[in-house]
Amino acid sequence: MQVIENKVQLRAALKQARAGGKSVGFVPTMGYLHDGHAALIDRARNENDVAVVSVFVNPTQFGPNEDLAAYPRDAERDLALMRAHGVDLAFFPGVEDLYPPGYTTYVTVEGPMTQTLCGRSRPGHFRGVATIVTKLFHLVAPDRAYFGQKDCQQVAVLQRMVRDLDFDLQIVVCPTVREVDGLAMSSRNVYLSAEQRTQAPRIAQALFEAREMIAKGERRATVLAEYIKKSIATIDSAAIDYVSIADSQTLSDCEMISGEVLIAVAVKIGRTRLIDNIRVEV
Ligand code: PAJ
Repeated sequence: MQVIENKVQLRAALKQARAGGKSVGFVPTMGYLHDGHAALIDRARNENDVAVVSVFVNPTQFGPNEDLAAYPRDAERDLALMRAHGVDLAFFPGVEDLYPPGYTTYVTVEGPMTQTLCGRSRPGHFRGVATIVTKLFHLVAPDRAYFGQKDCQQVAVLQRMVRDLDFDLQIVVCPTVREVDGLAMSSRNVYLSAEQRTQAPRIAQALFEAREMIAKGERRATVLAEYIKKSIATIDSAAIDYVSIADSQTLSDCEMISGEVLIAVAVKIGRTRLIDNIRVEV
């Protein structure tokens, strides 16, 4: 595995790696890697000749009162996981490399898709995500890029961006990887206290119970949303940001469950903000 620390080295390494028409699979991350990231890496490894992973805690997607400074980092552990999963190029750029002094160019996906759900409580977040992912796509020029369904709104926004800006690549969406008790894996789970960690799986349980209710015939979004809110409210010091039942492509709210819908939640447990979602098709 080659470890690369700046974009000049990256371009040179990719030129070599791609020789002879080899395909490139890319997994962008913010590090502190877990089995959710590993699943994306395995898929990229299996479906392409060359697997590239980036680790960059992107400052432009964090709000002023968010956890940028505290975001967990462990480069040694990340490198070990990447080696174990057969990554070819590990890209660890510095902030100044991707945002040199005087940087002023941003990519914005307009419209309701970035204003609902996480976009409402995290203004500017998706502008930061779209900007860094555009930059990384230009640098890596992958054939396929791998993203987790866990961040469902990010996936929807990036799929729109790729379509609108004619990126010549395929976005591959991978299922959410969960702990045995159902909690969606997240780098932020390390912030939870032992007590909060035992209660956090109720978020996923509430979503799974809603899926059961739909299987038994419930179609009213308000009834399902109320049920989920009540379940999650039993977690100590939980503050619900949103419970959304929406069309999975446009993210616009649904009144009744029909077609493919996304049930997505964001909850703050103490100071830790967790998100989770399921897709349901009827
Ligand atoms: P990060 O939170 O590190 O996630 C990197 C990728 O791993 C994302 O595509 C995310 O959806 C996926 N992922 C995280 N947890 C997962 C889980 N439990 N199961 C499956 N996939 C999971 O998302 C970001 O970083 C950033 O916004 C980024 C796209 C790198 C841009 O900065």
